[in-house]
Amino acid sequence: MAKVHVFDHPLIQHKVTIIRKVTTGTREFRQLVDEVAMLMAYEVTRDLPLEDVEIETPICKTIQKQISGKKLGLVPILRAGLGMVDGMLKMIPTAKVGHIGLYRDHDTLQPVEYFVKLPSDVEEREFIVVDPMLATGGSAIVAIQSLKNRGAKNIKFMCLIAAPEGVETLKEAHPDVDIFVAVLDEKLNEIGYIIPGLGDAGDRLFGTK
Ligand code: PRP
Ligand code: URA
Repeated sequence: MAKVHVFDHPLIQHKVTIIRKVTTGTREFRQLVDEVAMLMAYEVTRDLPLEDVEIETPICKTIQKQISGKKLGLVPILRAGLGMVDGMLKMIPTAKVGHIGLYRDHDTLQPVEYFVKLPSDVEEREFIVVDPMLATGGSAIVAIQSLKNRGAKNIKFMCLIAAPEGVETLKEAHPDVDIFVAVLDEKLNEIGYIIPGLGDAGDRLFGTK
């Protein structure tokens, strides 16, 4: 069964509180989403395998550790997932980046896929799918299925804010995918927005509406 990791780090909680505020403007919102993604990257990559490597310091030769050739892929769900990519790349600069474009139909809340572009060696990569919001779970489920349909076998999902409903639905649909959540919120409202949430992540990140 999928493991759900909820972050309790004070820096992450503090930054997400500012992100939520209705008075936080686009520039600060973007900056903080970037910073939280960078902090979360630290934990999401905790299980990367290490190998011994011989190096030479100014003092002597020594055997030390390096990450053992794991091929990582980041996949932001467009649009809002884009806001998390740069922060993660600061920590894992050699990761390849794929893109999956989805939007929620405002009436049915069903995700509609409009774009997919992934690294060519999908089967060999470990993927981290990123999106600030996990609400009904529909977008994450479709994005992960899209990756699996193209051969991906090793996938994690990472978001800033999740509704319990979305976490449960995603766990059921993809029990092999571990979920990393900065903050778990109360519930969804009647039009599928997270309470208390932060509103529409894409609009807040890109200043649209
Ligand atoms: C938002 C968000 C997620 C999705 C979550 O995207 O970035 O992708 O909603 O909702 P769900 O869990 O109920 O599927 P949106 O559909 O607003 O598209 P946008 O990023 O292009 O604005
Ligand atoms: N998508 C968002 O951007 N915000 C929500 O609260 C739910 C879905």
